[in-house]
Amino acid sequence: MALADILVLGRMNALVEEELPKHFTIHRIGREDVASLDPALGERITAIAGGAHVPVDAELLGKLPNLEIVANFGVGYDSVDARLCGEKGICVTNTPEVLSEEVADTALGLMLMTVRELGAAERHLRAGKWVSEGPYPLTRASLQNRTLGILGLGRIGKAIARRAEAFGMDIHYHGRTRQDDVAYTYHDTLTGLAEAVDTLMVVAPGGASTKGIVNAEVLSALGPEGIVINVGRGTVIDEPALVKALQDGTILSAGLDVFEKEPQVPAELIAMDNVVLLPHVGSASHLTRNRMGQLVVDNLLGWFNDGRPVTPVAETPFTRRKQG
Ligand code: GLV
Repeated sequence: MALADILVLGRMNALVEEELPKHFTIHRIGREDVASLDPALGERITAIAGGAHVPVDAELLGKLPNLEIVANFGVGYDSVDARLCGEKGICVTNTPEVLSEEVADTALGLMLMTVRELGAAERHLRAGKWVSEGPYPLTRASLQNRTLGILGLGRIGKAIARRAEAFGMDIHYHGRTRQDDVAYTYHDTLTGLAEAVDTLMVVAPGGASTKGIVNAEVLSALGPEGIVINVGRGTVIDEPALVKALQDGTILSAGLDVFEKEPQVPAELIAMDNVVLLPHVGSASHLTRNRMGQLVVDNLLGWFNDGRPVTPVAETPFTRRKQG
């Protein structure tokens, strides 16, 4: 017998798609189906599995009176109203740890691509310009002597910092609190961090508290040699302010894996050759996505079989399912 009726939001990772039907009765909805969700089905649903395709907000939660758990595919869960879930006694889980090293690898790759213009250099070769015009121009920036400022020194931020140390970078950070277990230089304001470094690595989660915090003032503090890398959430950067700062030389360049309105990327960014753009691939290998998928499945099985989630988020620190 199925353990529960589960609402799957959009299409999930192949491992999740294969595993969930072995244990649960699956119902699938897209963003456009929320308003017309059948109330009788809404009553039966006790779990959600999903990524960012459909927001788990007051509207959807209001249609699921018996919901117990939201198993989010991804470490970032800004598409889930976790505070409201907490108030309603609904457990939210995410997929931390299993993706940290992969995202950190991507972050370093993106930083190197941006600083040394590797994407543009490759385009130069592919376009036959090495033959017709000669060598790709020397890059204005070098990673040597760069100072890295990490916005959001969590698990992924620390994995990035360890790698950056191996590249000889001096490391500073800003976050809500100073962390006693690291030797990196702490700044209690983001502008203070931007003033002290020339390379800003954004790893902060999305949501209301970080919306647009990398703004015109921060970019100006970073300065004309400044490079911004973003592997956190697009919403953390004021995108129009970034476009302007890149256009008028307030900063040098940017490497972006995340955007405000994915998959839409502003045409102004696509038109700039000094910007490296990736389609949100931070964790996107089969290995890591399967590890994340397995954690989604384990959270749901843990909840319904043993009454315990594996990785509940901070807003819903529920370690036990209330039975009956
Ligand atoms: C990816 O963006 C994630 O939050 O895991």
